[in-house]
Amino acid sequence: MSKRNQTLGEFIIENQTSFKYSSGELSKLINSIRLAAKVVNHEVNKAGLVDIIGAAGDTNIQGEDQQKLDVYANEKFIQTLTKRNIVCGIASEEEDDFITINSQDENHQNKYVVLIDPLDGSSNIDVNVSVGTIFSIYRRVTPLGTPVSIEDFLQKGSAQVAAGYVVYGTSTMLVYTTGDGVNGFTLNPAIGSYYLSHPNMQFPEDGNIYSVNEGNYLDFPVGIKKYIKYCQEDDGERPYTSRYIGSLVSDFHRNMIKGGIYMYPKSTKNPKGKLRLLYECNPMAFIAEQANGKASDGVNRIMDIEPTELHERVPFICGSKNMVEKAEEFVRNNG
Ligand code: AHG
Ligand code: MN
Ligand code: MN
Repeated sequence: MSKRNQTLGEFIIENQTSFKYSSGELSKLINSIRLAAKVVNHEVNKAGLVDIIGAAGDTNIQGEDQQKLDVYANEKFIQTLTKRNIVCGIASEEEDDFITINSQDENHQNKYVVLIDPLDGSSNIDVNVSVGTIFSIYRRVTPLGTPVSIEDFLQKGSAQVAAGYVVYGTSTMLVYTTGDGVNGFTLNPAIGSYYLSHPNMQFPEDGNIYSVNEGNYLDFPVGIKKYIKYCQEDDGERPYTSRYIGSLVSDFHRNMIKGGIYMYPKSTKNPKGKLRLLYECNPMAFIAEQANGKASDGVNRIMDIEPTELHERVPFICGSKNMVEKAEEFVRNNG
């Protein structure tokens, strides 16, 4: 029985047997992620103190400047997962192609692949605002004993076996699901342990927060424009409150606790939206659904979309069920 003061380590051991594939491998994998997250957390917390802020000079495959901490977080997660030899492949928002992992003695026997956004919301680092990490885990579909291939990564979100995020906020939290609800753990930095602080997290069915970058308003499709106006109308229940941090992880986390909707729609400038299906939308969609929320591209369930490339983008509407359904109604009726 999970208890509030339980550590993440205890929770993982206790819940290992209830996981449908019941293998220690997934537990080890989550363990590695919590470890890497601690190391990244330490570095993020120092960001204001050391000269680590600013573009590292590289540009990622999407043509965006990489901040130094993006590079650092990417390296830490990849190193941790590679050294412990518990996954067969990794795909990262910060890498052009997926990475095959195999030590000489294990001959491609690991079952899981990880997809990761090592640092989400990185433009917020140099202004001391919350950032995050997002991860998504699948079982490989190609046979054991062979190197991983692209099909192992291009799976529908509904095939995820686990997903989670870390929010490096006023406190650091790891929130994850293995398909049996969503639990949140808060890091006690003095001791270095995560404690179960938010058992069985649930999106309220309704909410009064909407989160969208309204600077793009003029470029949004008509349905989204009308939905935003609907959010602003005064009818007793509305207007809703507008809250937009610009870190998906933080905006999502707040909305899950308080009730709300997050949108990154398509626009004339970004006809496919901005967020990445595999590193951002699918894991957040899995968590949302496990927490009684909903995630859609306006028309389709996010987790039903068949991915065609590693870095593809998709419009994203996610949050409290009734709010997402209302937004979908506007998209359906107006495009
Ligand atoms: P990343 O830092 O991994 O590139 O992701 C940033 C994402 C997401 O976290 C955030 O919600 C969104 O981009 C913000 O985009 P805008 O600045 O265009 O609103
Ligand atoms: Mn991101
Ligand atoms: Mn990122």
